[in-house]
Amino acid sequence: MKGRFITLEGGEGVGKSTQLGRLAEALRARGLEIVETREPGGSPGAEAIRGLLLEGETERWTPEAEALLFAAARADHVARTIRPALARGAWVLCDRFLDSSIAYQGEAGGVGVEAIRRLHEIGSHGFLPDRTLLLELPSGVAAERLDSRGGADRMEAKGDAYHDCVVAAFAALAEAEPGRYRRIDASGGAEDVTKRLLEALVDLL
Ligand code: TYD
Repeated sequence: MKGRFITLEGGEGVGKSTQLGRLAEALRARGLEIVETREPGGSPGAEAIRGLLLEGETERWTPEAEALLFAAARADHVARTIRPALARGAWVLCDRFLDSSIAYQGEAGGVGVEAIRRLHEIGSHGFLPDRTLLLELPSGVAAERLDSRGGADRMEAKGDAYHDCVVAAFAALAEAEPGRYRRIDASGGAEDVTKRLLEALVDLL
């Protein structure tokens, strides 16, 4: 059996984490071994870096330092968690991955897309997902969900212009790589969204 590496991406408040859990259950019901993980984090070293990235003042890190920390966390996560799981035939579902660094640090943070790809080449040997599911919502809906959740972390606190840029960057990435990406309408009931996500994986099953 062949392991698959699936990532979920999107702006803030699109329901990725909920959907990742639901998708994992649906795939387990088909007899697959599923590893659920997230970034930044997913291995002990990367979880330690997560604290550095998500806590503290918005301006705690320069955009470049921030990009390096995300890449360092990812390098550890890929080597210690993702690759070993894939090697034993498990499917790995990951909440955010490289494309978040491209959209957030590369585009919105101004570090540049090519610089982020170079860091990924060094840190993780350019390792890419088999499929990336981009969850999309009308911006007003995502903002409402976030307001009701409260307690913004360091990244969420970056402001509307930054987050609008992130959403546009994801859409452009999906258009540029139609083989790897599927754009998923994240509106409506959770059950419907999970169904759409599963449909976007049928060719890999
Ligand atoms: P998290 O609490 O996991 O948020 P979410 O539910 O939105 O995924 O926090 C992760 C935050 O880090 C989120 O704001 C996106 C940001 N991020 C980056 O800026 N670059 C990255 O490479 C990754 C993986 C995440």
